[in-house]
Amino acid sequence: MELPRVFAIRHSSHRILNPFDATKLATLGAALGVERDQQVLDLACGKGEMLCTWARDHDIVGTGVDINPPFVAAAQARASELGVSDRVTVLHDNATDWVSTAPVDIAACLGATWIGGGVSGTIELLRRSIRPGGMILIGEPYWRAEPPDQETVEGCHATSYSTFESLPGLVRLFGELDYDLVEMVLADEDTWDRYAAAQWLSIRRFLDANPDDPIADELRDELRTAPILHVRFQRAWLGWGAFALVPRN
Ligand SMILES: C[S@@+](CC[C@H](N)C(=O)[O-])C[C@H]1O[C@@H](n2cnc3c(N)ncnc32)[C@H](O)[C@@H]1O
Repeated sequence: MELPRVFAIRHSSHRILNPFDATKLATLGAALGVERDQQVLDLACGKGEMLCTWARDHDIVGTGVDINPPFVAAAQARASELGVSDRVTVLHDNATDWVSTAPVDIAACLGATWIGGGVSGTIELLRRSIRPGGMILIGEPYWRAEPPDQETVEGCHATSYSTFESLPGLVRLFGELDYDLVEMVLADEDTWDRYAAAQWLSIRRFLDANPDDPIADELRDELRTAPILHVRFQRAWLGWGAFALVPRN
């Protein structure tokens, strides 16, 4: 399956398809203390930046799974560019029920918890791939504060307040699922800008090069509305974090 063209166009310049920048991704690897030869599985890995940079910086062995062939190709190209093709394997597959045949040290899903039907289901899916004592890494948005009205909710691409948890709500949920939260790294407004604002430039460049494309009008509308939605709503109300969980013993 290929994702809608607009998604690919928006993210054409992104290596990281979530509100982290390269520094946050590196902070996360350092915070978790990932080590040489640790096995890391990344479901819905996108362009594979986490696995490739952690393989370069920490010598991990990574497996990524993504449903979108161009992202799989981009991840493989990135592994080659960073000289880690022998350490990173990227597979084209649907990750909704993907379980590693050999248990891994860390099983991750950043920014795609729909693959398990939500946060709880994705944690359960990832758990099936980790070795005893292994770690789960989950990346998810949260409300930084309770949105005051439905306009704010929809401005954050949510349908209702219950679309996301608050940060305390997420942490409470991890406990209710019987996991210890052992580390976390959170996006900030600047790194959200890298994720959101970089999309505007990619869209604009596409429009300049392809003014008569069948989806040009759709993208022109998006470019008119996305910046104001970001600065009015998402930048202020939405957080995003990567949370490291270990099953309680
Ligand atoms: C928001 S991006 C996050 C990508 C990556 N985890 C990152 O943080 O850079 C969501 C990713 O999920 C992938 N995806 C969506 N549904 C999927 C599925 N059922 N199985 C595997 N990958 C999926 C998309 O192709 C896309 O790469």
